[in-house]
Amino acid sequence: MALLRLDKYLCDMQAGTRSQIKDIVRKGRVKINGLVVKKPETKINTSVDIVAVDDKQVSYVEFEYFMLNKPAGVLSAAKDKKDRTVLDLIKDNSRRDLFPVGRLDKDTEGLLLITNDGIMSHELLTPKKHVDKVYFAQINGMVTQKEITEFAEGLVIDKDFTALPAKLVVLDYDKKHNISFIEITIHEGKFHQVKKMFLAVGLEVLYLKRLSMGPLHLDGDLKPGQYRKLTDIEILKLKQCGN
Ligand code: URA
Repeated sequence: MALLRLDKYLCDMQAGTRSQIKDIVRKGRVKINGLVVKKPETKINTSVDIVAVDDKQVSYVEFEYFMLNKPAGVLSAAKDKKDRTVLDLIKDNSRRDLFPVGRLDKDTEGLLLITNDGIMSHELLTPKKHVDKVYFAQINGMVTQKEITEFAEGLVIDKDFTALPAKLVVLDYDKKHNISFIEITIHEGKFHQVKKMFLAVGLEVLYLKRLSMGPLHLDGDLKPGQYRKLTDIEILKLKQCGN
């Protein structure tokens, strides 16, 4: 249950700008439980009150959670003047305050959680929790036991930053093109972390895709650019992993 002002309720649900909403309310176009209310500051109990604009019910959605298969070429940001952002790809959201949980580089694909749940986002991103992130990558060169050991021991990736031990699994090696196909599990989320870890051992990431974040796994049915709402079970698992 949440108690909030009528104008905030309608603004959250994208019924208009603050001033448009004040105008709609003052003109008597808004009803609460069937009665016209003309004060934008009227308090709404989101679990019992029924709000309608022009007799059309506006239900309240407190939190929204989407799983996006981020395509390459799109920024992990809410807004950008120049580039398309991951939020431009989400079309049927109720909330206007969505944001991506963490960042994937512009050229990285894969799992990105998009929500307006700030507490969940914090719990997933805080370095204290070490939430696992699994990536698939194509590497320019041969990844051997030497790199697997170095990654497992923790690598110095910036002058003063040593990455936590990471698990590296070699899936395949294309001898003709000298490309390794790997899966890497990291427990933190520094800027360009996977790319920097490979650079630290003299190798280059050619392609990077996030497969999972904590208990959340990329839905294999989602093509790059596609998204879906999280299921109740996925939301529950994410909340539990933050505890
Ligand atoms: N590590 C990177 O280097 N890039 C990403 O987008 C994510 C992890």
